[in-house]
Amino acid sequence: MTLFDRVFGGNDAVYGLTEGAIDGAIAQYGEDKAVSFPNTAYSLPCYYAVTGTKVTTLKELKEALGVVKTLMTREKRLNDAFMSGVATALCAEFIEVLKYIDGATPYEEPCYGHLADAVIRELGVPLVTGDIPGVAVILGSAPSVEEGVALVKSYQAQGILVTLVGGIIDQVAEAGMKTGANVRVIPLGKDVTAVIHVVSVALRAALIFGNVTPGDAGTLMKYTMDRVPAFVNAFKPLDDVIVACGAGAIALGFPVITNETENIFRVPKSLIVQEDVSKFNATSLEARDIKIKITNIDIPVAFASAFEGEIIRRKDMQVEFDGSRVDCAELVQTCDASEIEDHKITVVGPEVDDMELGSKNSIAYVVKVAGKNMQPDFEPVIERKFHNYINCIEGVYHTGQRDMQRIRISIDAFNAGFKIKHIGEVLYASVKNEFDAVVDKCEVVIYTDPAECTRVRHEVAIPIFDKRDERLDTLTDESVDVYYSCILCQAFSPSHVCVVTPERLGLCGAVSWLDAKATHQLDPNGPCQVITKERPIDENLGSYEDVDEAVQKFSQGALEHVTLYSIMQDPMTSCGCFECICGIEPFSNGVVIANREYAGMTPLGMTFPEMASMTGGGVQTPGFMGHGKHFISSKKFMKAEGGIERIVWMPKELKEFVAERLNKTAQELYGIENFTDMIGDETVATDPEALVEYLTEKGHPALAMDPMM
Ligand code: SF4
Ligand code: NI
Ligand code: NI
Repeated sequence: MTLFDRVFGGNDAVYGLTEGAIDGAIAQYGEDKAVSFPNTAYSLPCYYAVTGTKVTTLKELKEALGVVKTLMTREKRLNDAFMSGVATALCAEFIEVLKYIDGATPYEEPCYGHLADAVIRELGVPLVTGDIPGVAVILGSAPSVEEGVALVKSYQAQGILVTLVGGIIDQVAEAGMKTGANVRVIPLGKDVTAVIHVVSVALRAALIFGNVTPGDAGTLMKYTMDRVPAFVNAFKPLDDVIVACGAGAIALGFPVITNETENIFRVPKSLIVQEDVSKFNATSLEARDIKIKITNIDIPVAFASAFEGEIIRRKDMQVEFDGSRVDCAELVQTCDASEIEDHKITVVGPEVDDMELGSKNSIAYVVKVAGKNMQPDFEPVIERKFHNYINCIEGVYHTGQRDMQRIRISIDAFNAGFKIKHIGEVLYASVKNEFDAVVDKCEVVIYTDPAECTRVRHEVAIPIFDKRDERLDTLTDESVDVYYSCILCQAFSPSHVCVVTPERLGLCGAVSWLDAKATHQLDPNGPCQVITKERPIDENLGSYEDVDEAVQKFSQGALEHVTLYSIMQDPMTSCGCFECICGIEPFSNGVVIANREYAGMTPLGMTFPEMASMTGGGVQTPGFMGHGKHFISSKKFMKAEGGIERIVWMPKELKEFVAERLNKTAQELYGIENFTDMIGDETVATDPEALVEYLTEKGHPALAMDPMM
């Protein structure tokens, strides 16, 4: 048998199954029955991406199958094999979507099945920063549980997002390994068709971030090949269906590495036989050209970004430190180089061994730094990273910041020999690694002695935090000489540019003006460049000749004009990883804002994914704009259209999150008390009529404003 016979045979088999499944569903439900995956704006994302057609009913699904059939040509040429691979993948999507008919939830823990658009948007930033350096798709059963678990762990330790299909899911479960999106190991499903759920992520990335036109299959495949660092590890035995799926993966640019030696055909850089499973990791990274940044830290447990989302439950914890109950603090302090001994770690007070099991303790760590290029403005930038650093320790959990942090050390980590001083090692190594351009020397002092913690918190840390807050309050767009560009997301969204100002942070919520300034200092040729603001055009719109020139340059000519304060005239573009999106609500002259976490309906008749699909990929779409959560309380939020007075609806949770700051801004700008009380949410209205009624009752100012369009 040739490779062609195997791909074509596998494709035919899946096609037959799909046809039977669709016919069966039509017989059962009738051809008008609605079909779609949940929590996506793209219905059947793979089929939509490849053909540009949105399938909505079983009848259309059956028609779509006819289109798939046209891809199944049978010439013995490589392209025919690839297209049959794509056809196989689309059939898999059809089989999977049938499982979701009538709002069914076909997947049970630990399997995820279909992943929501929101998950992809969340992955945007870590993928562009290289925090997630790649995506592994592991298919089938490893030769043994040990080998399977070792492979998964090896990727996890590198921060690679791992998706599992088939027998490997039971193998990692048998070994008691924790899985889940929070530890970057995602079991998709046990049927081979579940592999479509990761393909769907890759193709939606092209639509969401890449502005790829649905139906432009050539550009789509180029996008996934160039920009989605995914690869497949397929365990033997490979049947024809898996071989056909593999051809689809290769068509998208994802190499397949397998230990199958029988009846397999090597394709250089694409279909690679590696008999030794312990070498899958190295072979895969080489094939996909993924480079791993290694931070070697001398601690007895693993340190990897995959552990960032790990949660330590009370019953699993050895000790806890809790800034909300006892005095705690975390602080970066700039010192003179002569005062610092590089890599010195001191613990003042008891070590974990001296603390009672399950006890609540004080902790305060002061990271002293010195460097010629160090500026006090970088202190909070470095300090905010402590959360990520400490969370990356396997078995250690961190939340909060400043003097309100909470840390848990698990029993497992303690038994492995983890000590307080290792927190110091992690902070030292991470700060030196990431901030080497400004930090020449670094020393860490960790206090666990309660009296010392009280002293450090109240006498050292809080006065510094207060001073910083004063500085932040006076940081306005008018008070600074320059803004910054950020083009980090161009890895996925090639023409997107964020313009970051003191009062408008990046739409991902992760890059403030201070962050951009530090990023620029750390890497002068990197993603954040200075934008001068010497030639204003219109202060109310926030338009500047300098800004226009910068966005033209950084978008390679894709953008000509961008305003900072308008959502109607030349609004800033979105890459896709925005925390929130606002869109105009014509009946109230206002805007509705939805955040990524919100799963329900908005008064626009759209869910977050549907609103979000209106913008992205670096294009301007007046009337819809992605933005960060903190931008909502900014005095510059759509200032050109009248400002925050236009906000008429937000999900309750978001409203509560922004309430304090938003109310303060409304008070200062318009003298309105408790402005958030006037704003609707899903508990009062999810349709425009009920919303306007509520707004009228509350006397919301937007109703009296001019229409925006
Ligand atoms: Fe991406 Fe903009 Fe955030 Fe930079 S600031 S990471 S470009 S969303
Ligand atoms: Ni106190
Ligand atoms: Ni982005």
